[in-house]
Amino acid sequence: MTETLSPTAARSGAPVPVIDTDPFGRQQLEDPFPLEVALREAGPLVYLSAHDIYAMARYEHVYAGLRDWQSFQSGAGVGLSNFRIRKPWRQLSAVVEADPPQHDAPRRVLADLLGPRAQRRLRTEWTAVAEEMVDGLLAARAGAGVEFDAVSMLAKAYPLRVFPDALGIPEAGRENLLPFSDFLLNAFGPRNDLVAASAPRARELSEWVSAHCEREALAEGGFGAQIWSAADRGEITVQQAPQVVRSLFAAGVNTTVHALAAVLHALATHPEQWQRLRAEPGLARVAFDEAVRWASPVQTFFRTATGDTRVGDAVVPDGAKVLMFLGAANRDPRRWADPDVFDVSRDPSGHLGFGFGIHQCVGQNIARLEAECLLTALAERVAAIEIAGPPRRRLNNTLRSWDSVPVRVWPA
Ligand code: HEM
Repeated sequence: MTETLSPTAARSGAPVPVIDTDPFGRQQLEDPFPLEVALREAGPLVYLSAHDIYAMARYEHVYAGLRDWQSFQSGAGVGLSNFRIRKPWRQLSAVVEADPPQHDAPRRVLADLLGPRAQRRLRTEWTAVAEEMVDGLLAARAGAGVEFDAVSMLAKAYPLRVFPDALGIPEAGRENLLPFSDFLLNAFGPRNDLVAASAPRARELSEWVSAHCEREALAEGGFGAQIWSAADRGEITVQQAPQVVRSLFAAGVNTTVHALAAVLHALATHPEQWQRLRAEPGLARVAFDEAVRWASPVQTFFRTATGDTRVGDAVVPDGAKVLMFLGAANRDPRRWADPDVFDVSRDPSGHLGFGFGIHQCVGQNIARLEAECLLTALAERVAAIEIAGPPRRRLNNTLRSWDSVPVRVWPA
């Protein structure tokens, strides 16, 4: 990691520090913290020479940058590719990669669809599924420790059961959901070996998703069918409907899987925090948000500068790609006391793990509901939880995730 001053960026405003480390390099994806510290310490704005991009990593500036959608647009892609100057080689998301006014109608439809009414409707069923799943794991082992992989048996199994049902897609083919979203989120980074590894199936997965975004493929009453009803009412166009359904395929499952893996890993490695949650299961949502802050399952997203824009005393040039480090902001000591400590008694609200501003995660309360149902069922039934073997990371250009977290639990 070397630091010099960027000659190009120094043309206007204060000189911009340069870091040559590749944030998408294997070593950085394995352990992003040294680079995050360096980025925050270097200044409000940093130039990353490995990809000819700019970066923000301090809480104050990531927050302000995400809020200022006029200066930092999403419509030129929230990945590394700059679709202001290059023809899109992939389909842009009609929601997360749209600027106002195109963003407004799909966002309104999703906000309404995923809002409090849906959460009230889903809570009873999702609680029952969580209880059944945890009871199944603990069955016939009362008193003895039970070992299982928290990622495959809970973090994946639970959202893969409840969310596709709510979306309204059939059982067959659900195994495509995670690889599809994995590819999309990898593709926001450079075309490195992670993208290459998931590329061979990309077309097939994309076609499977497209087929399931059509009206006739979606079960009555589900989120997908309701998006088509919104098109019938004229709230979005008929052309937008399958694209809005697609945004739920892309963003609704993988993110939650890895956030649940993060909270289960955090609790298994912090036994005293597990006991706090057991004593007060009402803390389930806070514990989840604290894990989203601490682990930031979505690490980064790009924006594109719409003009020369001041950040601190420096200037991002018009058209530059800017990488927003949500994970670094979530551990910025300027904003958080003891940021590296996972603590369910802190107030994690204001973290940027769900983004911020007009694109802030529209499904965040759906994710919180899933977490609340699962963690409550566990807290009521599990006296203690610990790591039973070495956890294994799953590398992705956008996600920070676990492939496997072996745990041992003792039924209450
Ligand atoms: C947007 C994270 C769960 C649907 C976002 C963004 C982040 C994020 C960081 C902002 C992207 C940007 O600013 O460019 C997460 C995390 C989740 C999660 C960490 C789980 C813990 C979900 C769920 C759904 C969902 C369950 C669907 C039910 C969306 C959509 C957007 C979005 C549609 C785009 C919103 C817009 O552009 O207006 N999410 N998400 N997410 N998320 Fe989530």
